[in-house]
This record gives sequence, structure tokens and C-alpha cells, in this order.
Amino acid sequence: MMTDDFDAADFGRQFRAFMTAVSRLAPPEETSVLRQRLESHLGGNPDGLPVVTESFPAFEHPNIQLALDAYLDAPGTTADLLGISGANREHHGLADIVNATGRHQQFDVGAVDYVSVPTGVDTEMTCLGFGLLLVASSGHRLAVLLRVGARRTGVSQVQLEVLTADVAAARKFLDVIRALAVERSIFRGQVLSFEPHDFSGGLGPLRFHHRPDVDEADVILPSGALEVLHRHVIGPTEHRARIQAAGHRLRRGIVLYGPPGTGKTHTLRHLIGRAPAATILIVTGFAAQFIREACALARTLAPAIVVIEDVDLVAQGRERSATTSTNPFLAEVLNLMDGIGGDADITFLLTTNRLEAVEEALVHRPGRVDLLVEVPPPDEAGRARLLALYGRSLLLSDADVGRIVAATTGVTASFFAELGRRAELLAATAGDVRADVGHVLRALDELRSSRVALGGRR
Ligand SMILES: Nc1ncnc2c1ncn2[C@@H]1O[C@H](COP(=O)(O)OP(=O)(O)O)[C@@H](O)[C@H]1O
Ligand SMILES: [Mg+2]
Repeated sequence: MMTDDFDAADFGRQFRAFMTAVSRLAPPEETSVLRQRLESHLGGNPDGLPVVTESFPAFEHPNIQLALDAYLDAPGTTADLLGISGANREHHGLADIVNATGRHQQFDVGAVDYVSVPTGVDTEMTCLGFGLLLVASSGHRLAVLLRVGARRTGVSQVQLEVLTADVAAARKFLDVIRALAVERSIFRGQVLSFEPHDFSGGLGPLRFHHRPDVDEADVILPSGALEVLHRHVIGPTEHRARIQAAGHRLRRGIVLYGPPGTGKTHTLRHLIGRAPAATILIVTGFAAQFIREACALARTLAPAIVVIEDVDLVAQGRERSATTSTNPFLAEVLNLMDGIGGDADITFLLTTNRLEAVEEALVHRPGRVDLLVEVPPPDEAGRARLLALYGRSLLLSDADVGRIVAATTGVTASFFAELGRRAELLAATAGDVRADVGHVLRALDELRSSRVALGGRR
């Protein structure tokens, strides 16, 4: 309760004197080691310094690590790596962490977090998962926090946050890291497919695959088809300088079409094997939603092949545009092809069972697809070759071969793989040393009736 003789100015003076006396009695305020390290590294109070942030998709994590390693390897560049302790530290940005190193000391120096990240079919690499780098490089001093975090969208990301008085130096640092990550990318020359994120359904990790090795002799196509495919897929990479000097584009689009089981996927696998230096990005089925990411990666990792199987099927579940009946996914792919530019050494390899669907889209966007290659059911000569390929173990006379070829008009190539397998199985279960025409004809009957039983597929 105020009294009449209360003198506010005097009270203020006395109060300040009291507080000074109290603070002299108290031990000096503890400064966290983290704060001391930040202050001595940055040469002053870190509070309120600008933070420049860059986010990368989580799959770039190993590339960021390699980029940091390369950056810190450069002469004249040094860095101290600190871990940070404190509850929920991964949910805080660098500015928050710095602020909370002062009076409340929510965070201090702690253990560095590492995570293991796959870098190939059966290789992995240890990467920094959460840590602070105190970087000194050509007179610039930066504090760089690396953390892996889920964004609100649920898509996981790797973030670099750079704290420094010198914003230009922070930007430069991030530019260099971005360039080094592309240069050192572990994805270059790999065979990769996109996977959805387990929980969010967003973009998950990239999955690594062994490069398929399908011999040319094992791909039975109408004569000339493989030759033209090799020329268009591999030719531009081999003759890149000449083609560019002549003013032509490198980017190419190829569509393989034909009924199921004729060997479109088989042919793709062969072609991928024939381009050992190319980065392969497989965008099939549900992964179609990541077509933009795939195109962006293809551009940075060229020479590259973007494989999109069954393009016509991807339309399902997507809304068809009101103004055109064209499959919107296909339209998007064609637009992305265009956007990539002609100078990128990228092959788009598309497959479809329904040529009409693709042709319809191409009418509106000419010049995106250079080659339409039919993969038809095998003719007589093709069937004889398929029988030789998948019936290697069979004991067949020329007359037997003629009989089987005549009896298999209209079947697909995949039918022969199954025919060979069944004939061998019949002979084996009957205890016969070699499978012969009798087994093949029985297998043929079986396959025909099971095809009916299975609903007449193919
Ligand atoms: N043209 C072909 N030459 C040799 N084998 C083939 C051919 N077509 C299909 N096959 C065999 O059948 C299997 C299935 O064919 P696939 O390539 O998946 O057909 P598609 O993709 O056209 O539906 C292949 O893995 C391969 O064993
Ligand atoms: Mg297929």
C-alpha cells in the first residue's frame, strides 16, 4: 500500500543498490561451455546473429556428409565438431539453441550424433546426424548446425543452419556445399528407385539395385529393334561432342509398346546393363508422384536414364483434365522432358501396353518422343529362337521345333520361359533323364488349360 510520503525516485535508487549488493553476493553467472565456445569462435556475442538455412531431401544425407568432408579437407579450412546435449534439441533451430545456452542453459556441449546411411546395394556410410561445426575458412568464422528433421509435411530433410555475422560468407558456404554434394554424389552411376516414406507417404529413401545384366542374345525381338534402341539410348552418350557440335539435342524419349509379356521390361533391363556409366532412375507405379524429383536428379547426375513403366496406368487415381482426355501424368512427364532442355544427356524410357494412350498425348506435344518401338508377340522365327533360349535343356529334333512353333502362334515371349520350365519339371517328376517333345506338348496343354483357369490372362 502506497503512503503519502513515498518517494519513487529514492525507492528506485535504493532498490538498484540492493540488487547490486545481492548480485555481488551470488556466484558469477555460469556460462555454458557451448556458449563460451560459440563466443570465442565467432569473436563475440552470438545472440541475434543471422542464421542462413538450407534444407535438402533426406536422401541427400550421404552427399552432404561427403561435401562437408571435402570442404573441411581444403587447405586453410579447419573445424571443431561439437555435440549438443539438452532435451528435444533436434526440435530446435540454431538460433533457439544459441539463445538457450545463456541464462537458462537448456543446451550445452554433449555427444555428437551419428547415423548410418545406405550408399549402395550393400554398403553404408556413417554420417553426422546432429552436431555443430565451428568452421574457420579463409578469415570467415561460421557455426554450422547439421540436423535431420521431419518437416510439418512429414517429409524428412537434412538441414544446414549457418550462424555468422557475415551473411555473404554463409551463402557462399552453402553454395559450395551444394556444388560439392552434386560433384561427390553417391548416386551417380547407380540404379535407383524412389520409395515412399513409411509413415508420411512422402518421399522416402532412394532404393539401390544391382545393375541388371541381360545379354543381347537373350532378348528376342524383331530384327533391327535392338540395334535401333542401342543407337538411340547409348549413341548420344558415346558421340556426345559430335552431336552437340552439330547443334542437336542429347535428350531423347523412347516408348516401348506391346501387350504384356512380350519383353518390354526385359528389354529395359538389357538396355540399362548396356549403359554402365548412366545413373538409372526408376519411377514406376506409386513412385510416379516423385517424377519431378527424378527429373531433377537425372539432370544433376547425367548421363541418366529415367525409366517409367506402364505410363498409361499411372493415370488411374489421378483426375483427368476437364479440357482434354489426355492422361495428366503423361502430359506432366512430357512437359518435364521439355523443361529439362535438349542439352541434358538423359534418356526417357517409357513402356506401355496401350500405345493409343501415349499417341494421344504426343499429338499435343510433338518432339518429346523420338522413337516408338513395338515389342510384339514373337513371329515364327522369334518363337524358334525363344524355344532355343528357354528350352536349352530340351531334347528336340528340327521337326519337333517346327511342331512346337506351329502350335504356339500368338503366344507372348514370356510364355516360352514358362513352357521350358514346365517341360523340365514334368520330365523331372516323371524321372525322365531328358525332357523331350512329349513333355513340351504336355506342358503346352497344361499351360493352355491353366490360362483358361486363371481367367485367360495373356
Ligand atoms: N522378347 C523376349 N525375349 C526373351 N525373353 C523374354 C522376352 N519377353 C519376355 N521374356 C521373358 O518373359 C519375362 C517377362 O517379360 P516382361 O519383360 O516382364 O514383359 P512385359 O514387360 O512386356 O510385360 C521376362 O523376364 C523374360 O524372362
Ligand atoms: Mg513390364
